[in-house]
Amino acid sequence: MAEGTSYIMPDTPFIQDGSNSGMLDDLRWPDDDLTRIPDWIYTSKAILERERERIFLGKCWNYVALEAEFDEIGSFKRSYVGDVPVIVTRSDEDEWKVFENRCAHRGVEFCRESRGKAREFICPYHHWTYDISGKLIAVPFRRGDKGKGGMPEDFNMEEYNPRQFRVARRNGVVFATLSDATETLEQYLGPETLEQFDVVFSGRELKVLGYYRNRLSGNWKLYHENLKDPYHATLLHVYLATFRLMVAGQKSAMICDAVGRHATAASAKDDSIEIDDRMVDEMKGAYRVGMDLNDEDFTRYVPEFDSPWTVTMSTIWPNLIVQRELNTLGIRHIVPRGPHALDMYWTMFGYVDDTEEMTKHRMKQGNLMGPSGYLGVDDNEAIKFLQDGFKRSIPSEGVVKLDPENEGGTDTLISEASIRSLYRHYREVMDL
Ligand SMILES: [Fe+2]
Repeated sequence: MAEGTSYIMPDTPFIQDGSNSGMLDDLRWPDDDLTRIPDWIYTSKAILERERERIFLGKCWNYVALEAEFDEIGSFKRSYVGDVPVIVTRSDEDEWKVFENRCAHRGVEFCRESRGKAREFICPYHHWTYDISGKLIAVPFRRGDKGKGGMPEDFNMEEYNPRQFRVARRNGVVFATLSDATETLEQYLGPETLEQFDVVFSGRELKVLGYYRNRLSGNWKLYHENLKDPYHATLLHVYLATFRLMVAGQKSAMICDAVGRHATAASAKDDSIEIDDRMVDEMKGAYRVGMDLNDEDFTRYVPEFDSPWTVTMSTIWPNLIVQRELNTLGIRHIVPRGPHALDMYWTMFGYVDDTEEMTKHRMKQGNLMGPSGYLGVDDNEAIKFLQDGFKRSIPSEGVVKLDPENEGGTDTLISEASIRSLYRHYREVMDL
């Protein structure tokens, strides 16, 4: 460890498979140094609990659903805010509700279906029943049986409604927050992120094309970092470099909000860049000389957006990735599953007015991403390698020093500036 650091090792023993770590009071971020990230933020259960309280259930707008998933009144979707189970319902023509999926009686997740249409939700255990706006409306045998048993005289159902979240919607995307103090969704996103968001969600009616779901063996924050880390793009991703979806020298940018928590990795495909020997050498194994696609149409970009970028990946803190990779569009919804895993819920979509040919093109190009996408699979594996490192080696810290002149936004791929800006914000909120 470098001389003069004030990094304090947690004094509880390090446990290999898991939950390293002790009380938060034992944990200290290296003083005022954003270029080093301590391993324990990825492995500690105490950290995850504080993240739930201060981030997911704090002053954040969390993605929960697309309006296109709710075709009529009574449509519902099971979703998550952080790892907290919620239900999203369309309770009226233009009214969406988000409430906790936890029976007030004994804590069962009473809605068990991913999506559907319902008049009410009946808990499978003791049949406590909730209406679609999230109110408790029935408790069986409340008055007992033949004068015996039952609830106390003063039992009031209204005191046992599931917790309600506030809802905000923008151009077909539904967000929820538990805090009354969260700013408006537009203020929360900030003008830079809003501009990119509105390119994909411009008001054109969305059409859901399908879903994926996969578990990744890594801490949830690693997924944000991965997309705020353009440095790896041309090194890890053989497909990206070899088939020229992204090469050093093409126009690219990391567009960051003023707070530093959201970012959009943007790039413009440029087929005119000559790949010389020096670049091949720099990209080492990632660029395979002489490999070509049989179906060139696969990586074709059909212009459709009012944007200079052919690819934008927006990480919207804390749980949403908006993917616009050429013509394949998707939502990635991050759900933490303990410190060492996350579940990724993917919703792939297009627009209602797409031609059949465009829908086919989006679906085909969608193979770039997803749980085993030509590109996505590399990141999934890298995230596992990172977490394995934190779990198996002696706790230490990561180094994020690239592009020191910038913090947040930048126009070079060889940068970690927006990872640093995220952790500046994170440290503040988490009080680390
Ligand atoms: Fe990647």
